[in-house]
Amino acid sequence: MSRRKLVVGNWKMNGMREHLDEVEAIGDLAAAHPAVEVGLCLPATLIMAGSEKRGAAFIGAQNCHMDMSGAYTGSLSAEMLAEAGATWVITGHSERREARGETNADIAAKALAAKAAGLKVILCVGESLDVRDAGDAEAVVSAQLLASLPEGAAADWLAVAYEPIWAIGTGRIPTMEAVETMHAALRAALATRIGAEADKMRILYGGSMNGANAAELLAIADVDGGLIGGASLTAEKFAPIIEAAD
Ligand code: G3P
Repeated sequence: MSRRKLVVGNWKMNGMREHLDEVEAIGDLAAAHPAVEVGLCLPATLIMAGSEKRGAAFIGAQNCHMDMSGAYTGSLSAEMLAEAGATWVITGHSERREARGETNADIAAKALAAKAAGLKVILCVGESLDVRDAGDAEAVVSAQLLASLPEGAAADWLAVAYEPIWAIGTGRIPTMEAVETMHAALRAALATRIGAEADKMRILYGGSMNGANAAELLAIADVDGGLIGGASLTAEKFAPIIEAAD
């Protein structure tokens, strides 16, 4: 099964209007590598302006509410994000599971809201260092994935991102063997729920991916792209990752 590589930058709480030049340059990189699907999940304040500069890259959001409207001060619905120009949204990032107490059920509900608004979804899962050290990582992350997988999950609107929490922003990554084992386990877990569709679904790796390690990570069977934080903030740092995916 050949799956088009998906390489997505998650800018987290970074980016001001002055950084729109980077969005434009990354859009140009996407145009230069049409075999790779390239996107940027921007802070909500930049989605509208970023959409005008995106070139061949898509613009995504980093979170959405599970309802479409209501008395939720400070929240944004999937429809609002879509109207602003987003075509993808991240759900279940560990920085929201942990700090915002988001449950697997919340994440599945957000994914369904996103789909209803026409957004595609990157559903994040990953283990803590304690779980990794205890040797339970594959079982725990597979269970987390199945518990947060929305009904009707299909490859044309949902991708999974495996992000070991201890690898995010730390410069540490799992061994290549550990990544391969985890991605195979996640695909097998998906198959128990969605059958043959699991072969089409893209499973990204995220956590300290950079220009130096991207080629090796992206060459692993079942690694269908990357979700990149720090190394996606400038076109210069992001370019070698996009090139490695091509
Ligand atoms: O969502 C991307 C992410 O959590 C990884 O961040 O900075 O380790 O690439 P970083």
